[in-house]
Amino acid sequence: GASAAEAFENSTVGYAYNDFILLPGHIYFSSDQVSLDTHVSRRVALKTPLVSSPMDTVTESAMAIHMALHGGLGIVHYNNTIREQKKEVDRVKRYENGFITDPKTLSPEHTIADARAIKSRYGFMGIPITENGKMYSRLLGIVTNRDIEFIRDPNTKLGDVMTRDLVTAREGIGLDEAYAIVKESKKGKLPIVNERFELVGLVARTDILKNRDFPNATKDRVGKKLLCGAAIGTRVEDRERLEALVEVGVDLIVLDSSQGDSVFQLEMLRHIKSKYSHVEVICGNVVTTTQAYHLLKAGADGLRIGMGCGSICTTQEVMACGRPQATAVYQVSKLAREYGVPTIADGGVSSIGHIIKGLACGASCVMMGSMLAGTEEAPGDYFYKDGVRLKKYRGMGSAEAMQKGSAVRYFSEDDRIFVAQGVSGAVVDKGSLRRYLPYLINGIKHGFQDLGVPSLMELHNRLYNGKLRFQIRTLAGQLEGAVHSLYTYERSAV
Ligand code: XMP
Repeated sequence: GASAAEAFENSTVGYAYNDFILLPGHIYFSSDQVSLDTHVSRRVALKTPLVSSPMDTVTESAMAIHMALHGGLGIVHYNNTIREQKKEVDRVKRYENGFITDPKTLSPEHTIADARAIKSRYGFMGIPITENGKMYSRLLGIVTNRDIEFIRDPNTKLGDVMTRDLVTAREGIGLDEAYAIVKESKKGKLPIVNERFELVGLVARTDILKNRDFPNATKDRVGKKLLCGAAIGTRVEDRERLEALVEVGVDLIVLDSSQGDSVFQLEMLRHIKSKYSHVEVICGNVVTTTQAYHLLKAGADGLRIGMGCGSICTTQEVMACGRPQATAVYQVSKLAREYGVPTIADGGVSSIGHIIKGLACGASCVMMGSMLAGTEEAPGDYFYKDGVRLKKYRGMGSAEAMQKGSAVRYFSEDDRIFVAQGVSGAVVDKGSLRRYLPYLINGIKHGFQDLGVPSLMELHNRLYNGKLRFQIRTLAGQLEGAVHSLYTYERSAV
């Protein structure tokens, strides 16, 4: 095997993750001792080097909350109105483990059929009834299974059957205290109300058993709130968006562009740095050292690397621009390291092995779209096709997404004719992040163990001192390393 660094330095060939394989090292520690501690930007440290992509089929509040709970970070997309994006970020910042902050609610005018529809869609019962059927409205009652199970007429109004005798708790109550009330009251749900008796949250009995602690959660030191990132564009209008996000406490801004080396991005970076110096700014995307140099010199707190390697990208085909991802990550990360700036390897990750390779090429974190789009916490509903449970996933430069407004990312803001740089499709159900993220994290740790490196920091040290060895694979080598010679009659689980 060759030193990975030397191979990247000396080759005129650009390598993709699948072009090479890392050589194993000596194991002298158990996999649970592996430390994945890293930074996503100068001042934001993570326990898990995973970031979710700002795409409208990947990151809204639920995704960002669970990424942060597991030690990673979510970047809320901006293919929506300023109000909508602000609300998503606000939800993440207000999140408290154990409290349901967006319970399904109905009004007394809704019917039993409406309540049953919620049960069959989300699988739970215990629906708070508020004056106007929404949160932050006066709480009137609660409808449980027992209130409606023997009633035949589906048009019966919930106002006529709901339980009015309520046990509630006041906003600000701690989780332990709330759980104590739930246990004592023997009720399934505990509505949380403010001083005007408006519903502001809910605690569920079933969550008491489910809720574990999240010792690795990405939180700020003072308020103990989860950290949250958000993406914006570089137009003048985006300054208004930025202001709204800062108001609700966004911690990190990603300047989202497929080609980040532009005067527009430099201007926006300077604007943010001068006005909101506490907010971290990640610039990109870049794939060359020249692009990176401009942004590093201007004070970027992090760099996002990748052009055209995403699973839904057609940028390389349409724009004739981009770079194979492994080489891009190596080159940019090496320069960024000199500035003490972390990097994110963005796109082209379709397995745990790719995550490890992205990190081995020098990235501080890996950003994923397609790997996460099939989880419960991604926006959108599941649907079935040929008996397979799927969720929609689309490129932000796809015709479909651009029609909704994301055209700015792809520099066609003034064009009447969109040139798509991405496609839409679907990905397979991956279940909840509550299980999927621990699975990914464990997998990464096992990979590090095989490499004989106990930490991400050590992996990078070995890369740069020439001790990380890898082998370029021929096509036959790649085929040999993948599943082969097998009659497949079952779809693989993940
Ligand atoms: P994965 O491979 O994780 O990639 O699905 C996600 C990343 O792809 C980028 N992205 C796009 N690139 N056209 C592109 O060329 C698009 O329409 C598009 N949408 C997203 C983005 O960097 C994302 O994080």
